[in-house]
Amino acid sequence: MNNADRLQTVADRLRDKRRVTVLTGAGVSAASGVPTFRGPDGLWKKQRPETLATADAFRRDPRVVWEWYDWRRQVLSTKVPNRAHEVLAAWSERFPNFTLITQNVDGLHERAGTRNLIRFHGSIWEVLCWDRCANAPGRWWDDTVPFPQIPPSCPHCGGMLRPGVVWFGEPIDPDVIAKSTDALDCDVFFTVGTSAQVFPAAALAHEARHRGAFTVELNLESTPSSNAVDLSVQGPATDLLQTLEELLLGRP
Ligand code: OAD
Repeated sequence: MNNADRLQTVADRLRDKRRVTVLTGAGVSAASGVPTFRGPDGLWKKQRPETLATADAFRRDPRVVWEWYDWRRQVLSTKVPNRAHEVLAAWSERFPNFTLITQNVDGLHERAGTRNLIRFHGSIWEVLCWDRCANAPGRWWDDTVPFPQIPPSCPHCGGMLRPGVVWFGEPIDPDVIAKSTDALDCDVFFTVGTSAQVFPAAALAHEARHRGAFTVELNLESTPSSNAVDLSVQGPATDLLQTLEELLLGRP
């Protein structure tokens, strides 16, 4: 089957369906100029995750960790959503029961106007008090770019803030897990632009299929998920989602 036939099969599967769930990863933001993690120019080629994205690293050197997140926030503030984000935002309005679970912390799905979004790994635009001081809310939005002082301080206790992202070794918020698990009961489950190497996110497609969903992977290259889904289509997320959207809307 070529890509055109594969996408036609997916479009046929989507027609008249109500429950659609999509899991996205860094590949969806690649066309916006946001670096992925594991590609040839990926962030983890230049830095080791354990030196920057763990609570231990933060404890050891909060300044270095915050400099990296502050730099990423500066880069992200210059980026805009691409066609892949836009198509998914349109689906979030069109399908009656649509959930987008994203591993991305970049905020681009939000900026595209996506409804019913679950931020599986948190958001780089949220912060929380490192000491979880009693006066501070659990987490809050702060899009200051760049921070005038690194590490930024908690406005409630004067201690340090930390980024509102999930670091390696940290559990996913139980509420996020519960909502994501509910969304696995769907008609069609997509996994888009993720290397399917980070758990528990990487297990979601498998579980959705187990529950009866038709599972589809859209990715630039094959991944450990490719053989575990019903249909895998290789290509840029922007092109594949745009073609699917045209098929769904009946336009060439
Ligand atoms: P990765 O960088 O691991 O994988 C990105 C995937 O997107 C790869 O399989 C690429 O082939 C694919 N890709 C690249 N460009 C693409 C494009 N234009 N269209 C479609 N696919 C494309 O990123 P994630 O799977 O998102 O965790 O990584 C998962 C987690 O690992 C991240 O959320 C992050 C990271 O450590 C945390 O920050 C907690």
